[in-house]
Amino acid sequence: MIGLIAVSVGCCSLLLLRLLFRKRISINGKTVLITGASSGLGEALARHLFNKQCQLILLARRIDRLENLRNELTNLHPSYPQPKLVQIDLSNYEQLSSSTLMNILEHEPIDCLINNAGISQRSSVLDTSMDIVNDIFRLNYMSLVTLTKLVLTKMIEKKQKNSSIVNISSMQGLVAVPDRSSYSASKHAVQAFSDSLRMELGEQYPKQNINVCVISPSYIRTELGQQALNRMHNKDEKLTDDKKSSAYEPDYVAERIVNAIEYREHDVIIAPFQQYLAIWLRRFLPSVFFTIMIARNKRLKAKK
Ligand SMILES: NC(=O)c1ccc[n+]([C@@H]2O[C@H](COP(=O)([O-])OP(=O)(O)OC[C@H]3O[C@@H](n4cnc5c(N)ncnc54)[C@H](OP(=O)(O)O)[C@@H]3O)[C@@H](O)[C@H]2O)c1
Repeated sequence: MIGLIAVSVGCCSLLLLRLLFRKRISINGKTVLITGASSGLGEALARHLFNKQCQLILLARRIDRLENLRNELTNLHPSYPQPKLVQIDLSNYEQLSSSTLMNILEHEPIDCLINNAGISQRSSVLDTSMDIVNDIFRLNYMSLVTLTKLVLTKMIEKKQKNSSIVNISSMQGLVAVPDRSSYSASKHAVQAFSDSLRMELGEQYPKQNINVCVISPSYIRTELGQQALNRMHNKDEKLTDDKKSSAYEPDYVAERIVNAIEYREHDVIIAPFQQYLAIWLRRFLPSVFFTIMIARNKRLKAKK
C-alpha cells in the first residue's frame, strides 16, 4: 500500500514538473500535411494552421470541397502560403508510394503530418459485412501506417528536427462501445502503433526529437456519423453521434490539437469527465463497466 502511494505521488510530481517546464515549439510557418481536410475536424485544423501561416498540403477525395476551402483561405490572407491540394483515395494505400503525393514529399519537407482521415460504422458485429470491416481498416489503420512510413522516411533522411506525427484516434480507441466494433478496433490499433513508434523514435533518433502525438476526442459535430450511415444505406438519423448535444465543435478540438502539437504532447484526451471515468472503470472494474454500458445501450435503443 505504501509502495502504491509512493508510486502515485512520484507520477503526479513528474506530471507536474512536465507541465511546469514544458517547452513550446511554435508551428508558425511550418509545412503541415493534413489528411481528410475536406470536412469536419480536418477542415477546422486547416483553418487554424493557415492562420499561423503554415504551408498546408491538404488531402481528400472531394477536390471541390478542398478548392472551396483554399479559395476561402487565400481570399482571407492573399499573402500567406497557398495551400497545395491532392485529390486521393487513401484507402488505396498500396498505391500511395506511386501517387502524385510522392512528388510533393520529394520536394517539400513535412514538419507535421496529421493523420486525420477516418470513417466509422453504425452496426453490430453480426450486421457488419466484411467489406465494411475491410474498408474501415484500410483507411483508419493501413493508410495511416503507410503514409506515416513514407513521411517519416523523408524526415529521417533529411535529418529534420522537432517534427511531429499526429494521429487522430478517438475515445473509442481507448474504450470500445457497442455498434462500433471495427471502428473502435481500428482506433485501438492506431494507439498501439503510435506508442510503439514513439518508443522506437526515442530510442533510435533521439536527436531529431520527432514527436508522436495521439489525439483521442469524444464526439465532435462533423459528418462522420452521417457518412457511416450512408455507407450502410441506413438513413436512421437518430443514430448519428454529431446530433448529441454534448458534441464538441470541430473548431474547439482543432485549437486543442494545435496547442498539443506546439507543446509536444504525447496523448491528449478531449472528453467530458464521465468519459475519463469510463476509461478508469474499464481498466479496474471491467464487470461494472460492461453492466453499465449494456444498460445504457438498451436505454438508448429504447428511446429511438
Ligand atoms: N466526429 C467525431 O465524433 C469524432 C470523434 C473522435 C474522433 N474522430 C476522428 O476525427 C477524424 C476526422 O473525422 P471527422 O469527424 O472530421 O469526420 P468527417 O467530417 O466525415 O471527415 C472525414 C474526412 O476523411 C476524409 N476521407 C474519408 N474517406 C477517405 C478516403 N478514402 N480517402 C481520403 N480521405 C477520406 C473525408 O474526405 P473525402 O470524403 O472528401 O475523401 C473527410 O475529409 C477521424 O479520424 C475520426 O475518426 C471523430
